[in-house]
Amino acid sequence: MHKPILIIGACGQIGTELTIELRSKYGAENVIASDIREGGEALMQSGPFELLDATDYEAVEDVVMHYEIDEVYLMAAMLSATAEKFPMRAWNLNMNSLFNVLNLAKEKKITKVFWPSSIAVFGPNTPKENTPQSTIMEPSTVYGISKQSGERWCEYYHKKYGVDVRSVRYPGLISWKTMPGGGTTDYAVEIYHEALKKGGYECFLDGNTQLPMMYMDDAIRATINLMDCPTENIKVRSSYNLGGMSFTPKQMADSITQHIPDFEITYAPDFRQEIADSWPSSIDDSAAREEWDWEPRFNLEQTTIEMLDNLKTIQK
Ligand code: SER
Repeated sequence: MHKPILIIGACGQIGTELTIELRSKYGAENVIASDIREGGEALMQSGPFELLDATDYEAVEDVVMHYEIDEVYLMAAMLSATAEKFPMRAWNLNMNSLFNVLNLAKEKKITKVFWPSSIAVFGPNTPKENTPQSTIMEPSTVYGISKQSGERWCEYYHKKYGVDVRSVRYPGLISWKTMPGGGTTDYAVEIYHEALKKGGYECFLDGNTQLPMMYMDDAIRATINLMDCPTENIKVRSSYNLGGMSFTPKQMADSITQHIPDFEITYAPDFRQEIADSWPSSIDDSAAREEWDWEPRFNLEQTTIEMLDNLKTIQK
């Protein structure tokens, strides 16, 4: 039997699917979902749930002790676009929640931690194409600054205190079960919803903005594979680059037009354009490929088919 797992931020875009997948792998009772508010029906009905503020150390510790939690996946965070509007709240949530979990691991109350980083750790001075694992970073967003600081702290806790913390730098994630919230890559999900509902989409990024993206099934598989990997294989304790596909809004619109011939896209770039322009356009993930056999399965065409098929079923 797998020891109990706690997902913090289980109701978000990644947390929902991660919780459901871990429950089918390890048994519903062994995977405790938690969030500041209740989530969608599929998640809430699939197993145990606790209301939990990730920034409250005592509250997190209580849940960890009560369920004898062994592993924590910390998925709660404020994403890039929202964080620009509320810098101090973003810093507080993104950093304090991480310290709470790292400190529980340092005190040996839990044994393993997953914490997501992001392509947002990179900045305008980073090489844009095939961005290497180690390179100039200098993030220029509140979210990116919090993720880069988080990476430094993860590596520090691993080196100084032996904390088994594992992380990937997620690209923009595309999924149909739960909407993303407050990110710069959210257009790549909204576009499918609007294509089916309205036959058109006004994109908040310019048509030629190429960003690294990934279908959620790949992201969940990467996360679980990294957590399953023998500890000695994991050389990077800050966060692994993780590549899936790279495309522009224009290319995404073209792939939708293959299935909805009348689909029309217009462009009205807003403040998120500057954020997107500071991020890589493609990612070199050779370290993840070499050290834990990472390989993505979904390209843009397959993603479009999956998204349209699944959204059609739930929008009926
Ligand atoms: N998808 C995130 C965002 O756009 C990046 O990690 O903020």
